[in-house]
Amino acid sequence: MKMKKLLLFLSCVLCVSADALHSDLNIRGCSETDAENMYGLDGEELYYTDFNKQKEIFVLPPFVDPFTAPGGYEQAVANLRVCRDNIKLFGKGMKDYPPEQDAPSGVMIYTRDEVEFGGKNTLICHVTGFYPAPVNVSWTKNQQVTEGSSINVPYPNKDGTFTQISRLDFTPQLGDIYSCAVQHLALTQPLTKIYEVKASTRSDPGVGPSVFCGVGLTLGLLGVAVGTFFLVKGNECS
Ligand SMILES: *[C@@H]1O[C@H](CO)[C@@H](O)[C@H](O)[C@H]1NC(C)=O
Repeated sequence: MKMKKLLLFLSCVLCVSADALHSDLNIRGCSETDAENMYGLDGEELYYTDFNKQKEIFVLPPFVDPFTAPGGYEQAVANLRVCRDNIKLFGKGMKDYPPEQDAPSGVMIYTRDEVEFGGKNTLICHVTGFYPAPVNVSWTKNQQVTEGSSINVPYPNKDGTFTQISRLDFTPQLGDIYSCAVQHLALTQPLTKIYEVKASTRSDPGVGPSVFCGVGLTLGLLGVAVGTFFLVKGNECS
């Protein structure tokens, strides 16, 4: 009994400190035919429920320490029952509300690594601020449609909109032009972002640092000279 109390206490302390440091997310949704249940932590998806396979699917990358969610599937099924009951209850009252639609508020295209001509790299198209999910992202290279991209599952933001990230492996060659085009329910035409492999995109420090170094060194030496001058002058006077 004492042990149990201690455990309870401990878990509460953990809850409190975890509450301050991390933000936990659980999304449950259902329709008459579909169901969703996902858990996230600090902006990353941890796992979701696959109601067909009847288990939790962990989606963290392999370098993360493995963990399990005992009883998670049973809990998800219980929540689903509540959700379907709610749909029956509220479905009638809410049926005339038009569904909300937000077009993506931000689309960014960038490379995962610093660009080196001929070196393997990944282009990333980051799409955020849209509702409902998902978006479709298509890529072109020099105006030809390219296959082989991947996209993650929509991640919910704090404000109820979603984020999705599409990736395309590529090898930067000078002059190549890539684009990612984003389609969404609330857009009449795709939102397109262009990425051009330019000489200046390469991680070339250029003349900037040398100029700064030269000017800095000159000013420094000047300072020493002026300082020495006044030191000598001062000594002469006294
Ligand atoms: C995304 O692509 C699928 C398959 O081509 C299509 O059915 C769907 O309408 C598209 N969604 C949007 C938002 O354009």
